[in-house]
Amino acid sequence: MPPEGRRGEKKGEDTWETLGADADALRKAMGYFPTGVTVVTSGRGERVEGMTANAVVSVSLDPLLFLVSVHKEARLNGRIREEGHFSVSLLADDQEGLSRLFSSPERSSGLQAESSLGGGYGSTGDPLAAGALAAIECEVAEVYAGGDHDLFLGRVVGVKLGDTRKGPLVFHEGDYPTLSSRARAEDSGAFMDSVRGFDARIGRRSRR
Ligand SMILES: Cc1cc2nc3c(=O)[nH]c(=O)nc-3n(C[C@H](O)[C@H](O)[C@H](O)COP(=O)(O)O)c2cc1C
Repeated sequence: MPPEGRRGEKKGEDTWETLGADADALRKAMGYFPTGVTVVTSGRGERVEGMTANAVVSVSLDPLLFLVSVHKEARLNGRIREEGHFSVSLLADDQEGLSRLFSSPERSSGLQAESSLGGGYGSTGDPLAAGALAAIECEVAEVYAGGDHDLFLGRVVGVKLGDTRKGPLVFHEGDYPTLSSRARAEDSGAFMDSVRGFDARIGRRSRR
């Protein structure tokens, strides 16, 4: 006898709802795929542009390569081409406001954008987001055409860790859900302290 499925559940290929291969369908399907959120920046002072992006990929470790996909019409696109570098701040779970700000077409560029970020500068000179988990700093190695986007492949020239005790900002189904399974920030900090203590003890023991 075939195994029983859950009540009311269809089996195998019958469970698929086939959509047309169009933009709405792809957007809808990818909405179910949770991602982290970043703010990508390029330029300094009056020339700063920043944009919220989740189409980012750590491509290669040898050599170190990192990719961001930026819409052809986005202000950031031209700025990265002019500057030849970009930096990617990986946002923490308390930075939804920053994500919303840098995905708004009405946002400011230049000094005002720089002061909204407030996290100093990477080795490329691009501004970073204060309170982010980490930052990846890149010099453009290649630009590939990607339909209505361009794919900027960057050679990684710097990596910074920020406030890693916080959880990541997550984008899912067009919203920013909280990760319920994650311990509270202060608990995870205490946990990390205990892990570091454990690592240190193991290290001491192995040197004996
Ligand atoms: C969570 C999230 C992720 C996004 N990821 C990207 C991305 O990877 N690439 C992109 O070009 N736009 C992305 N966008 C959209 C841009 O941030 C937004 O359209 C921005 O206004 C574009 O810049 P512009 O106003 O200069 O055109 C994303 C928006 C959100 C909310």
